[in-house]
Amino acid sequence: MARNDAFGYDLAINDPVAVEAWNRTVAAFLAHSAATPVHLTEALEREPDFAMAHLAKGFFMLLLGRIELVPAAREAQDAATRIMAGDSANDRERGYGAALDLYLEGNMAAAADRLEQVMAAYPRDAFALKLVHSLRFVMGDSIGMRRSIEAVQGAYETDHPSAPYVNGCYAFTLEETGDYRAAEARGRDAVLRAADDAWGVHAVAHVFDMTGRTREGVTWLSNQPETWAHCNNFRYHVWWHLALFHLDRGEYAEVLNLYDTEIRAEHTDDYRDISNGASLLTRLELEGVDIGDRWTELAEICAGRTDDGCVVFADLHYMLALSSGDSHGKACRLLQSMKRNAEQGKTTMAEVSADVGVSAAEGLIRFSNGDYANAYHALSVARPNMQRVGGSHAQRDVFERLTIDAALRAGMLTEAQILLDDRTRARGAVDGYTERRLSSIGVFESSLAASL
Ligand SMILES: [Fe+2]
Repeated sequence: MARNDAFGYDLAINDPVAVEAWNRTVAAFLAHSAATPVHLTEALEREPDFAMAHLAKGFFMLLLGRIELVPAAREAQDAATRIMAGDSANDRERGYGAALDLYLEGNMAAAADRLEQVMAAYPRDAFALKLVHSLRFVMGDSIGMRRSIEAVQGAYETDHPSAPYVNGCYAFTLEETGDYRAAEARGRDAVLRAADDAWGVHAVAHVFDMTGRTREGVTWLSNQPETWAHCNNFRYHVWWHLALFHLDRGEYAEVLNLYDTEIRAEHTDDYRDISNGASLLTRLELEGVDIGDRWTELAEICAGRTDDGCVVFADLHYMLALSSGDSHGKACRLLQSMKRNAEQGKTTMAEVSADVGVSAAEGLIRFSNGDYANAYHALSVARPNMQRVGGSHAQRDVFERLTIDAALRAGMLTEAQILLDDRTRARGAVDGYTERRLSSIGVFESSLAASL
C-alpha cells in the first residue's frame, strides 16, 4: 500500500512513521536545518526499502562537493535502483533516480533538467524544486533557478505546506537576476510566514548587499539571528553576510570578531565554510586590514583538498587559502589538478574548469605573488564567464575585487575604472568598496597632475 507525502503524492512505502520522518526530512531540507540527516536516517531505519529516501541521501552526498562522498552517493543510488526494480516504484521515484544517475555521471545540467520534468508532472513537489534550486545554484544558473520556480508557481498557493520556503527561494532568484524590489518583498513575506526560513532571510540580505544598503543589512540580520540558529553550516554563511555589511562600513574589528566567534568558530572543512572564511580574509586584506595568522588554519585544511575536483567554486576558494596562506606548493598542485580536470572535458565541472577555472586560479596565484599585471590579465580572461563557477553574485564578488585591485596595483587605472563602473552597474548602487577605490584613483591622478 502506498502512502502520500505532505504534498499529496505517492510514496512507495506503507509505514506511516517512515512517511512522517520523510516529511520532516523535506521540511528540514527546505529550512536548511541541521536536523535534516537525523530525519532522513530515521526514515531509512523505519523503512530500509524506501527508494526516495535513498535517492535523497545520494543527492545530499553529492551536493556536499567532496570526492570521498561519491562512493556513498553511488551506494545510495544502487540501493534505490534495487528497490525500484520491483513493482512498487512509481514514476516520480524513477525520475529522481534518472536525475541522480546523471548527477553521478557529472552532468549536473542534465540532472537539473530531469528533475524539472519531475516538477512538471508533480508541480507541488517542493523537494524536487529545492534540489533543482541547489543544483542550478552550484552551476551559477540564476536564470534557470528563476525559470524553474516560475514554471510551477501556481501550485504553491497558500495551502501548500512549503509555500513560504518556495517564496524564499523565489526571492533569491529574483535578487540574482536583478529584480531587487520584488526580491525584497518576496523575501520579507517568506520570513513573516515561516520564521525559520533562513534562505528567505538570506535572500533579503543579498538585496541589501547588492544595493549598498549596509545599515539596513546590519539591522535586518542582527535583529533576527533566531531565524538561522537551527541551520546546518548554512548558519555560518548568514553570519558571513552580516560581516560583509560591517566590512563595507569599515567596521573591521566587528568583522574579525564575527569571523572568530561565528564564521570560523569551528574549523570545519565543508567547502561552503572554507569559502566564507577565505573570501572574507581576502576582502579584509584588500582593505589593508591585518588579519594575523588566520590563513594558517584554512590553508592547512585546503592542503588536503587539492585533488577534489568536484566543484570549481570550491577549488578557487581553496586556491585563495593556499596561495595567501603561504602554501604555494599545494597551490601549484591544485592548479595542476584543475588543469587535468579541464582536459577531461566530459563533466559539467570539467567544462567550467576549462572555461574559467584554470585562468581564474592562475590569476589568484599571480596576485598572491605580487605579479599584478599578469594577475589582472588572467582574471580578465575568466571574468566574462565567472558566473559559471556558481554561487551568488555576492560570493563571486571576491574575484571581481581581486581583478579590480590587480589593475589598480599594476597602475592600470583606466582598466580599473572600467571594471568599477561595470561592477556598479551590475549591483545597482555604489558601495563602500567602490567609493574607496574611486577615491584612491582620484588621489593618484591628482598627485600625478601635481608632479607634471
Ligand atoms: Fe549568500
